[in-house]
Amino acid sequence: MKMIVYAVEAAERPLLERWGRQFGWELTLLAEKPEQSNAAQAEGMDAVNVLSSTYITPELLDAYCAGGVKMVVSRTVGVEHIDVAYANAIGIAVGNAPYSPSSVADYAIMMMLMVLRHIKPMLLRYAGQDYTAQGYLGRELPNLTVGLVGLGRIGETVARHLQGFGCRVLGWNRTPREALSGLVEAVELDELLARSDIVSLHLAACPETEHFIDAAAIGKMKDGAVLINTARGPLVDNSALIDALECGKLSGAGLDVFDGDRLIYYRDFKNQLIVQRQMAILRAMPNVLMLPHMAYYTDQAVEDMVRNSLDGAARYLKGEEDPWLIGEKV
Ligand code: COI
Repeated sequence: MKMIVYAVEAAERPLLERWGRQFGWELTLLAEKPEQSNAAQAEGMDAVNVLSSTYITPELLDAYCAGGVKMVVSRTVGVEHIDVAYANAIGIAVGNAPYSPSSVADYAIMMMLMVLRHIKPMLLRYAGQDYTAQGYLGRELPNLTVGLVGLGRIGETVARHLQGFGCRVLGWNRTPREALSGLVEAVELDELLARSDIVSLHLAACPETEHFIDAAAIGKMKDGAVLINTARGPLVDNSALIDALECGKLSGAGLDVFDGDRLIYYRDFKNQLIVQRQMAILRAMPNVLMLPHMAYYTDQAVEDMVRNSLDGAARYLKGEEDPWLIGEKV
């Protein structure tokens, strides 16, 4: 079985080699992202393995299909960068690769703490040799209520890991999750927004969740609340967020993602102009901590992503049950 793996970074190489051997793959590793210009290299491959920083468009899928590709697997949980319906319609199966939820969950908690304790402006102050702390009085989690929007594997892990911090944890999920009853107080979304000092998003990106946090949702939030987004940029309407931060409705935000990040993150723009005004505004705010979508980026998660992508695709191509198949079996 042959697979081409795009967007390979140094840390993944030994893992790809090791798990490639284990699951019987002959691998071609490319550092470049999957694009039309390098689609020809997928010719003769059984599977294409991608990350999420470029869109796997119908045109790209047509090129893979013409080259005999039977499966596209993404070393990510989210697959909104792949046109799954189109892939399935032309006979290409799509898979994803879940990984340790602690990676993102702990990062979300880190962002909560960093925003509550004003770490971004304090680091800047420290770098300027100003060693005073005045003006940046922090808040403590045991006095606060955290609302988790989305209680999948990551939301659930945030809830579990928050237990030791002594805060009240509210949770909302599209479909109620009885099993979490001891961990979170299940409430309606409006109640969660109204009662939470920190709202942390753990939803997938799909048409139904686009701008899930818009001006109306922010209007329902507690005055001075903090918003944490380690999930997907399009969940939050940038303009509404900026307005809320400017007028003090929200006291801060921790954003590992923002709407529009896909064309910016995972690229080096040193000394270049980035034409993204909303990003520039958010980035300039002392109470907004932004990082380049790296909550997942741990040794365990990267190994899981590599292993599960190779395992799932191998199982699929051998006609076995692929636990990580998305969409249809084709
Ligand atoms: C995912 O797996 O869905 C992620 O968010 C991480 C990915 C961008 C590498």
